Amino acid sequence: MSDATQARYSLGAIILHWAIAIAVIVNWRIAEAAEHGTDAEKMAIMANHKALGITILALSVLRLGWRLTHKAPPLAQSLAGWEKLLARVTHVVFYVMLIGLPIGGWLGVSYYGNAVDIFGLFTVPALPVGVDKDAGEAVLDLHHEGAEILLLLIALHILGALKHSFYDKVPSLSRMWVSR
Ligand code: HEM
Ligand code: HEM
Repeated sequence: MSDATQARYSLGAIILHWAIAIAVIVNWRIAEAAEHGTDAEKMAIMANHKALGITILALSVLRLGWRLTHKAPPLAQSLAGWEKLLARVTHVVFYVMLIGLPIGGWLGVSYYGNAVDIFGLFTVPALPVGVDKDAGEAVLDLHHEGAEILLLLIALHILGALKHSFYDKVPSLSRMWVSR
């Protein structure tokens, strides 16, 4: 498509993309920071991790809803078939992870019988699974591994965006940025 204004995501999609991207990276750093504290510090830091994680879940469900009801701007014609496929697969896996990962975290803490306090504003109840600490531990192990997969995906995604913009010189970053 030659008209760049038509080949751009809508403002709502762009705002959600960047809000979620920043929140995911901040939440990963928060979880890492909790590793190096005393137990009390860890609890306080993880409370923020859980609240931000549930916020990411809500934003991602909203975003997926938007995505399923709107067409994304078509990818540049000049991209190779495998590049288009890789971009699409990456995006689909992103949605799976952005929703699956926080649900996994929520399920994990639910197995410990804990609700999630959302920044002191309201409480999201534990999922009705009953207390089972072994299951909680197993689910949180998976949550940890899932987060590592998400980080690899983010690295791949950033490399793709940079390659398309600066090496292939096709619109990529501009598609996810507001028009000047
Ligand atoms: C946690 C980090 C991030 C997540 C979870 C994420 C997720 C996504 C998803 C799911 C899409 C697909 C949109 C759709 O069609 O439904 C997308 C598109 C895009 N993202 Fe990200 N993103 C992240 C970070 C970044 C960063 C850091 C950059 C820039 C270097 C970036 C640049 C883009 C661009 C340019 C597109 C549009 C791709 C296209 O041409 O269709 N993203 N992102
Ligand atoms: C997209 C959102 C999320 C991301 C990216 C994320 C990422 C991570 C990462 C990277 C870790 C591992 C930290 C480490 O040990 O090095 C972690 C641990 C943890 N996350 Fe999340 N998380 C998210 C959402 C949630 C949610 C919604 C909850 C609960 C409501 C949660 C609960 C936990 C807990 C309890 C741990 C500690 C597990 C342990 O003790 O080993 N997370 N998370």
